[in-house]
Amino acid sequence: MIIKKNLGEDLNVAEQLKLATKEDHKMVEIEMRSAELFSRTFDRHRYQQHLAILWNSYRSILDNFEPYQCNPIIEKYTSQLNLDEAAILGDLKDLGAKNHITKRQPILMNSLEAIGAVYVLLGSSMGRSMIGKKLSSSIADWHSSPPKYYSQNESEIQLFQDFKTELNKLKLNHPQLEDMIAGAKKAFQVFRTVARNHYETKQTISE
Ligand code: HEM
Repeated sequence: MIIKKNLGEDLNVAEQLKLATKEDHKMVEIEMRSAELFSRTFDRHRYQQHLAILWNSYRSILDNFEPYQCNPIIEKYTSQLNLDEAAILGDLKDLGAKNHITKRQPILMNSLEAIGAVYVLLGSSMGRSMIGKKLSSSIADWHSSPPKYYSQNESEIQLFQDFKTELNKLKLNHPQLEDMIAGAKKAFQVFRTVARNHYETKQTISE
């Protein structure tokens, strides 16, 4: 199933991923209570909860990349994603949160699914940039050192563009594209499940 943009015009791989996961992104925003991020009630506790959900989800997905490190795309982008995970953990520690890792499941079944998950993690830099700009003044007061995750991340936005260019050069058949989309959906699902569990008080990081 190749989706058509306009008469005779095929969507490229990155556009297909975006379109196929539009609803997943909407659900992640709802389940991560993103509206709270921009409300007057946003406080240090909610910020810490938000970071805890991000960290647990990143950690869980990054652990899933291990078997696919020999894939050049996975290998190339994992180092930046590890830095992002370390930035979130650093921010949590700076806020005084204690680490508590939950049990993880292998969810990504092949390297194409893993590339779909890389799309989700790298693509989240788009929202991160916008959220960071809005939150920068409030969160700085809660940290003893400058916040790392919600700081300037222009280079990661560029990296996401490079990744999409690389994706669009891949010659994928239909089952391969479906695998990539499935991996992206699984990655979004990790964030949704972690958020749901977190807000149902099964805390992923203790305070
Ligand atoms: C929780 C609050 C979030 C907000 C407010 C938010 C907002 C946004 C915004 C404004 C964009 C840019 C949309 C565009 O240019 O068309 C974006 C893109 C994206 N976000 Fe989020 N986001 C959030 C969370 C997340 C999370 C947790 C993930 C990962 C699970 C994620 C994954 C993505 C992806 C993959 C894209 C790129 C879509 C593309 O251009 O292909 N977002 N987000």
